[in-house]
Amino acid sequence: MWKLFKWNSKDSYKISDELDIDNLPRHIAIIMDGNGRWAKEKNLPRTAGHRAGVETIREIVKECSKLGIKYLTLYAFSTENWKRPIEEVNALMKLLVEYLRGEFEELNSNNVIINSIGDTSKLPLVCQKELKYAYDKTKNNTGLVLNLALNYGGRDDIVNAFKKLYKDLKYGKLKEEDISEDLVSSYLYTAGMPDPDIIIRPSGEQRLSNFLLWQCAYSEFWMSNIKWPDFRKEHLHQAILDYQKRNRRFGGIK
Ligand code: FPP
Repeated sequence: MWKLFKWNSKDSYKISDELDIDNLPRHIAIIMDGNGRWAKEKNLPRTAGHRAGVETIREIVKECSKLGIKYLTLYAFSTENWKRPIEEVNALMKLLVEYLRGEFEELNSNNVIINSIGDTSKLPLVCQKELKYAYDKTKNNTGLVLNLALNYGGRDDIVNAFKKLYKDLKYGKLKEEDISEDLVSSYLYTAGMPDPDIIIRPSGEQRLSNFLLWQCAYSEFWMSNIKWPDFRKEHLHQAILDYQKRNRRFGGIK
């Protein structure tokens, strides 16, 4: 199966023979873990691991876009990550700004929407400014939606939804009987997006770490020992292949 994309406009892009193009996940979510351990193994500072992690982000975003995946959500900074040393937090924020400035043109010209989920109002102003600029300029694109989860926590997402819902009930915009699962979903940061079909976690940890708690009800999990800076597009293909072999029943019988 061949597909043409601007990313490599000289050649048409050949999707792996094994991947079933008609059964691709619509939404892939990734917990980008293992940067610190990757750096430690190499006697490098943790920030070198994060910097290497950004290279992986570049490769994986491009690959998802080429494959025609509609949503990619990357867990870049959790509500708990503020507990890290201030130097590391600052380095992550700096990398975010560098990434947005450095990648904007390429992402925009490849039709990517640069979106964020989470309480970004607590991020440094320069990050907020770059995120807003990137979103405003790309929001009318029609390709991959890149969701950067920043100051994101699954519980915070739900608390935030509760607060908005409560206000709408209080001011009569909503009635109790309007409350349904779909309505709750529409109050989350991921409103309007399908739930993740697959959640990928590299680095050997087997937990969700407060990521997309409501949205993951029927997500397939794919875990591996590869640390995020070593994660390549071949690993993404493998995750999708494995996903395609799963029998998703959503509580029913097939
Ligand atoms: C987890 O690895 C990774 C993070 C908390 C940050 C992920 C951020 C990036 C890859 C780069 C910045 C983001 C953007 C969007 C440019 P860890 O440090 O917890 O690894 P460890 O468990 O091995 O210590």
